[in-house]
Amino acid sequence: MTDRSRVFVSHGIEALSALAGRDLLAPLRDKADCRVWAEPGRPSPEELRGHMQSAEGLLCLLTDRVDGELIEASPRLRAISSVSVGVDHIDLEAATRRGIPVGNTPGVLTETTADLAFALLLAAARRVEEAGNFLRRGDWAGGEWEIDAFVGKDLHGATLGIIGLGPIGQAVARRAQGFSMRVLGWSRSGRQVPGVRGVAFTELLAESDFVSVHVALVPETRGLIGTEALGAMKPGSILINTARGGIVDERALAQALRSGRLAGVGLDVFAQEPAGADHPLIAFPNAVLTPHIGSASVGTRVRMAELAVRNLIAGIEGNRMPACANPEVLVRFGKG
Ligand code: GLV
Repeated sequence: MTDRSRVFVSHGIEALSALAGRDLLAPLRDKADCRVWAEPGRPSPEELRGHMQSAEGLLCLLTDRVDGELIEASPRLRAISSVSVGVDHIDLEAATRRGIPVGNTPGVLTETTADLAFALLLAAARRVEEAGNFLRRGDWAGGEWEIDAFVGKDLHGATLGIIGLGPIGQAVARRAQGFSMRVLGWSRSGRQVPGVRGVAFTELLAESDFVSVHVALVPETRGLIGTEALGAMKPGSILINTARGGIVDERALAQALRSGRLAGVGLDVFAQEPAGADHPLIAFPNAVLTPHIGSASVGTRVRMAELAVRNLIAGIEGNRMPACANPEVLVRFGKG
């Protein structure tokens, strides 16, 4: 017999542990009876529900849908911890109603995600993927150095508009300043950031040569960049999204690329993930697309896993999580 808590880990992280040179789940195994999903792919909603029948803790990824139904069907659940900063895959209200803290991983991925946003910005501005594909296809062989081949847009002297001035938006602003860009910013809270000129949403769209999206996906930001916003963007500008796919209306975006209103786009996130080879935006040579790799450096993914493990241990032990997305639970239960 054991009185250890039982936790379910929805994805084995052996490969990341191997890169880290240590078992990243070891601190959790010390404290709890850990059931780790070991099958290929991710657990189906039914499989997840099956495991949550007896689990007191859940360590999940952003690909797991932790909706109200799952939370209600998990009678012993006391703590959820996601290896992600975004928690739009978790029904926070349902968790809060049950008094269940939800851990996430802010901070540790800020700079890495800002790097990726900037990589997409540079790649889209200078048409890196288009030009690389031209070379790979052998289309350059026997040709000339053309004065007008793959001419793109300069970053220096251009205006970058940042939508969302949280830590990642601010980290992108710092990079832009290093590239001699003028930086405009808009956030829902009206936050002011040194070196960033705060402007109205429509002014940002109209004045920016590049727009980079860094808001969380919540009901108020779903579809924020739709037909109207895209139509308000400066002709020939470029849109970057490393936040969440649901913030951008992909159909309207395809239309803006088709009409030539936008010169390009850099996307790391999609409305429906994973995006298949038949995704409509793949047809556009000026779309730089990556498969949700914003935080994908070894160091950052390791730090995310470690923080998520610390969050879960704190949660199942009834302590304050180092990073909690619904801290009102703690206040309500007298642990804030
Ligand atoms: C990545 O998108 C995350 O939310 O961590």
